[in-house]
Amino acid sequence: MHVVRHATDLAPFRGGILVPTMGALHAGHAALIKQASSHESAREGVVVSIFVNPAQFNDPRDFEKYPKTWDADLALCEQCGATCIFAPEVGDIYPPGVLQAPLILPNVARGKGLEDHYRPGHFDGVYRVVKRLFDLVQPRTAVFGEKDWQQLQLVRAMVTRERFGIDIIGAPTVRETDGLAASSRNKLLSAEARERALGLSRAIEAARPCHNVAHAERAAWRLMVAHGVSPEYAAVRDGATLGPVQSRDTARVLVAGMVAGTRLIDNGTWA
Ligand code: PAF
Repeated sequence: MHVVRHATDLAPFRGGILVPTMGALHAGHAALIKQASSHESAREGVVVSIFVNPAQFNDPRDFEKYPKTWDADLALCEQCGATCIFAPEVGDIYPPGVLQAPLILPNVARGKGLEDHYRPGHFDGVYRVVKRLFDLVQPRTAVFGEKDWQQLQLVRAMVTRERFGIDIIGAPTVRETDGLAASSRNKLLSAEARERALGLSRAIEAARPCHNVAHAERAAWRLMVAHGVSPEYAAVRDGATLGPVQSRDTARVLVAGMVAGTRLIDNGTWA
């Protein structure tokens, strides 16, 4: 496995498969990297990028406390079949003196009252960093976790808009046996907060039996509150557009909330 610091050394891995990450890797990332390793694009290389992107943190304290676990990350990548770790410096991703043109984000990331509303500027940062990673790595395929559902739809829209011709694979959320979605932020939870955090996955379950959107959203919200989560949103939306539900089969339940100072998100099917 190669550790590449500069984009100029990425040439041998062009046309491979990319798993973009911000490090602090966990079981969810392991599943993404394993899935990437068994894909046909892996013949050209399995690149895992590790870059904590300052531009996507709307809260500087969140950026400061983002977990950093470099040695463990390398070991996990190696075990899961990565052939290259791309760990650029901020200056490689955002070269000094390069003015960033203002960005009008695709519709899936604007005015939806979801991550776009609660993390102003976040998707601007995600769009810019993923576009830059695609430009530098030039993969044929890239894998993103479904846990960041709105981000996944944004990446799909970006690939279409920018005509990247990259296949985007959405990989299912990895859950612990009690349902908690794997997340780098789980490392920040005390045992008591971890118990409360189960309110997010249970909120999704609570929404499932409900027959209409309003009831489902109310049930999910109440479940989070009852579990000691401070909800930001509990929404049932069309899975592709994140607008109003078109059919139950394509609808998604999306939740976000704070648990003891840590912000968590989750989502799942409604049907
Ligand atoms: O999902 C993440 O970890 C990040 O948003 C990503 C896609 C690596 C961009 O920094």
